[in-house]
Amino acid sequence: MKRIGILTSGGDAPGMNAAIRAITRKAIFSGMEVYGINYGFAGLVAGDIRRLEIADVGDKIQRGGTFLYSARYPEFATEEGQLKGIEQLNKFGIEGLVVIGGDGSYHGALALTRHGYPAVGIPGTIDNDIPGTDFTIGFDTATNTILDSLDRIRDTATSHVRTFIIEVMGRDAGDIALWAGVAGGADEIIIPEHDFHMDKVAKRIQEGRDRGKKHCLIVVAEGVMGANEFAEKLKDYGDFHTRVSILGHVARGGSPSARDRVLASKFGGFAVELLQEGKGGRCVGLLDNKVVSSDIVDTLENGKHQPDLSLYDLNQELSF
Ligand code: F6P
Repeated sequence: MKRIGILTSGGDAPGMNAAIRAITRKAIFSGMEVYGINYGFAGLVAGDIRRLEIADVGDKIQRGGTFLYSARYPEFATEEGQLKGIEQLNKFGIEGLVVIGGDGSYHGALALTRHGYPAVGIPGTIDNDIPGTDFTIGFDTATNTILDSLDRIRDTATSHVRTFIIEVMGRDAGDIALWAGVAGGADEIIIPEHDFHMDKVAKRIQEGRDRGKKHCLIVVAEGVMGANEFAEKLKDYGDFHTRVSILGHVARGGSPSARDRVLASKFGGFAVELLQEGKGGRCVGLLDNKVVSSDIVDTLENGKHQPDLSLYDLNQELSF
């Protein structure tokens, strides 16, 4: 393979730029040409494609977001959109594509694979909800960003003896809530993958109060319900001086952590090796701390990401 393309798609994630840099540099080092596709699959269909040279990825490793821009583009789910995309790739002589993104982006890569076009997926999303990998690019940074907010909110919670309901992103997955919650000493972590009972939550808050505990932090993953709704429901069980904080998109931006930059560099380098060997239809991941690849069709059809629920149980014991 002599010429490859890169696109980032779906929600941006810190570390995407580090991955683009790694792919570009590794490919050029191996004698390939690299093309960057702007605005994900939307840019692919529109032919918004440009050559990337070594200098184009300089001064990018530390930047959040994606300098190739991103878009959500449901039209790529249609056969028409997919064939237009392949037409553009052929027009530019691009023989293989690296897709960096989350679930929707992987489905785009899967569609290309089904049309016989070699695509490799790299998991880039703050949600950490992609099968075939223990961790996605951006998750570590997002977790640390949320953790920083939890630490700050705790100061106010303690000073005013308040209960804070903090809503965090993650779409249908609870990983950000779980990891940031454990790291931040949250009193309760409410995630889609584990049931909860409001009466028990209220009982634990009250028990804490009775023991003289000043603060109470409840982290709610957006996939369960909004923080305002949670606070409304909690009201039925007592007055806990509740305040709500919705952290939202603050989790998405910012300079990537060292861990995300290293993960992105490893994934990027490995994706290029796969394409060099003519291997498309793969997705890259980190399993048991090893960089691996798996069949994208099988991974998306049969794989399921599960958060580490032992963390949930541990938190129940640690936070009383
Ligand atoms: O997938 C990343 C994510 O930030 C989710 O956590 C969130 O539910 C969604 O994207 C928000 O999407 P948008 O930025 O399109 O509103």
